[in-house]
Amino acid sequence: MALVTTTEMFKKAYEGGYAIGAFNVNNMEIVQAITEAAGELNSPIILQVSAGARKYANHTYLVKLVEAALIENPNIPIALHLDHGADFEICKSCIDGGFTSVMIDGSHFPFEENIEVTKKVVEYAHAHGVVVEAELGRLAGIEDDVKVSAEDSSYTQPDEVEEFVSRTGVDSLAIAIGTSHGAFKFKPGTKPQLRFDILHEIEKRIPGFPIVLHGASSVPQEYVKIINANGGALKDAIGVPEDQLREAARSAVCKINIDSDLRLGLTAGIRETLFRDPSIFDPRDYLKVGRANVKAVVAHKIKDVLGSEGKA
Ligand code: G3H
Ligand code: 13P
Ligand code: ZN
Repeated sequence: MALVTTTEMFKKAYEGGYAIGAFNVNNMEIVQAITEAAGELNSPIILQVSAGARKYANHTYLVKLVEAALIENPNIPIALHLDHGADFEICKSCIDGGFTSVMIDGSHFPFEENIEVTKKVVEYAHAHGVVVEAELGRLAGIEDDVKVSAEDSSYTQPDEVEEFVSRTGVDSLAIAIGTSHGAFKFKPGTKPQLRFDILHEIEKRIPGFPIVLHGASSVPQEYVKIINANGGALKDAIGVPEDQLREAARSAVCKINIDSDLRLGLTAGIRETLFRDPSIFDPRDYLKVGRANVKAVVAHKIKDVLGSEGKA
């Protein structure tokens, strides 16, 4: 089976009341962990690559790792997606280089400029059989070294989505309803609350259209504790409550982005192993523990949060 676009995945997810997990990949262990979990649970999956991941691991290595995962897991649909494409050039490079989906993130631009750049990417992508995600509204948190404070974040305005979608021809839309990028989302003791009222208003304006949630990690406290008990120094924070993500997955939200939870699982496994036995220096000994944690995170999300188990 070849890499697929997200069109069919989203159609089924929308109708079936579940969401597809979009997990960030940066190296072989992460690709293996995600696709093994999805393969065993018969779940469709999106592997996404940021500009930072391309810089770290190199475009070709990442594409070839994903192609290898496809051969190892022929039973599940896999899409390869560019996460947070900053401009037309990076989107073009990924479209030309084997991706099946790209995000053009014009969310920091004024409305008309966001439409302009999104439209340009859509025209090129569609001519090459690739689908496009765009974003309206601004999430708090950190992405690719850009930090957006809670005060500078802004919810998506429902009265803009219809015009944006029809003028750009985009295939899916990321919205801001209270999620946030990174591992330090909300202060402990607070009660994060996604704005389901905004989500439902958006659903009404563009019925049947797939919505994307970024910044959807839940910051598993057990991994934060393991990291800090083994020499780490992560400050206390909580993530997006999983019951709210489950509720979102039942709605028009068809793609849920998770990266930070994988990073926490991987790091917890590595720290725990190296602290338990300081004589270890074979990378396989600690990477395999980190990889097992990433696989466990993905399996949990598929089964208990996204609802995509058995939907391949
Ligand atoms: O939204 C951002 C993703 O977590 C990717 O992070 O740019 O550090 O690779 P990165
Ligand atoms: P988290 O930082 O919450 O994992 O979000 C990842 C993301 O949105 C990638 O685009
Ligand atoms: Zn994101």
